[in-house]
Amino acid sequence: MSNLAVNLALGLTEKSGVSRLTLTDFRNYAHLRINANLAPVIITGENGTGKTNILEAISFLTPGRGMRGARLADIKRITPALVTDEYSPTEIAAVNWAVSATVVKNNDETEIGTAVEKSAREEEDDIRSFDRRIVKINGQKTTSQSELGKYISAIWLTPQMDRLFRGGSQPRRSFLDRLVYAFDVEHAKRTANFEHLYKEWYQLLKNNGATGGRIDHGWLDSLEENMAGLGVAIAAARRELIARLNTFIEHEPDDVFPNVMLELDGSIEKLLDSMPAIDVEDHYRQKLCSQRRNVLYNDYVDGVNRTDFKVYYRRKHMPAELCSTGEQKSLLISIILAQTKCQTLDKGFSPVLLLDEVVAHLDDIKREALLEKIRELGIQAWITSTDAGLFKSLANDAQFLTVKNNAVFG
Ligand SMILES: Nc1ncnc2c1ncn2[C@@H]1O[C@H](COP(=O)(O)OP(=O)(O)O)[C@@H](O)[C@H]1O
Ligand SMILES: [Mg+2]
Repeated sequence: MSNLAVNLALGLTEKSGVSRLTLTDFRNYAHLRINANLAPVIITGENGTGKTNILEAISFLTPGRGMRGARLADIKRITPALVTDEYSPTEIAAVNWAVSATVVKNNDETEIGTAVEKSAREEEDDIRSFDRRIVKINGQKTTSQSELGKYISAIWLTPQMDRLFRGGSQPRRSFLDRLVYAFDVEHAKRTANFEHLYKEWYQLLKNNGATGGRIDHGWLDSLEENMAGLGVAIAAARRELIARLNTFIEHEPDDVFPNVMLELDGSIEKLLDSMPAIDVEDHYRQKLCSQRRNVLYNDYVDGVNRTDFKVYYRRKHMPAELCSTGEQKSLLISIILAQTKCQTLDKGFSPVLLLDEVVAHLDDIKREALLEKIRELGIQAWITSTDAGLFKSLANDAQFLTVKNNAVFG
């Protein structure tokens, strides 16, 4: 499809996004309600006023731990009154947080609510309580967070992601997996289930090594079989996304946001190049079995939990980790824009962009190019900044909000 055709097709798509956002005891907000337009929403305010917290709340409308990867217990509002000499964790625990929203997908409205709930778990003759995130869709409690993917999808860019290409592979892997959710809502469930089974398998081996007790081989075998099945499905979905995005990007203009080339570096993904999935599954199961000792000796267990997501600056054939900080940011923006377009064209609904302090670090040309692209795409993008003056070009297109004293002014 030519670029003009892509833009035309995108322009015709109906709007999606968050039209109402309500926070209760969430971070610094006791109560906050925002009625938002399905357009760019610019949030400005001084440092520490609660701009990022609003974006984080929106990220909780998608599966996972939100854009800060926070512990659920850290999110509930800590009030000054509670942080005194009489500070008691139980008192804080009584304050619960919730995010509720009206989300729009191609003109259809859905009510989404998420909150934490205290649950009890029996553990070695002890009852422990723990926090669990619950999700309600149109008032009905759902068993799986992945259901959220049917109503809203979000992509975020945060200052922490400036180091995405330089550190360990885990944040790159979750970035990639979140991109996959948009095309395959089951992917969120599969990755969560895999992680759960992996922990169980790991603990079983670790505890057994420590006590020298008899190991339940039947249980291990069954965990490995399930992990292999899920793992191959995870690998296949990742491969599909990478292929889809690479094909899409080939036809994209290579402008101030340089085109990328994406690659997967993972043993299970690689096997899918040369073998049918059913054989890879078998292979993976054996691989897990042969790695049981690794849990005790060197802690290295290979598989889809180790896959890396490699990004290259296409024109320069340069791995992203060797690019300058500014180039790395541009490459990330490039991926996000490609995903947004690709998703809007293929799935018929656009993601919400959460851009935390992104524009402050771009030069004038790049900033204006990004704002123009967002305007052209007609999507909802929540953008934070300390400087409202940077958004003059969106004066007629965006909604401007200011954050002050734990409240938002329109
Ligand atoms: N659980 C919490 N309860 C109350 N306030 C919190 C909580 N967690 C973070 N905060 C406060 O939120 C503020 C940071 O908000 P943030 O959205 O990151 O600011 P910014 O506007 O700079 O993006 C800090 O002042 C911090 O103390
Ligand atoms: Mg911030």
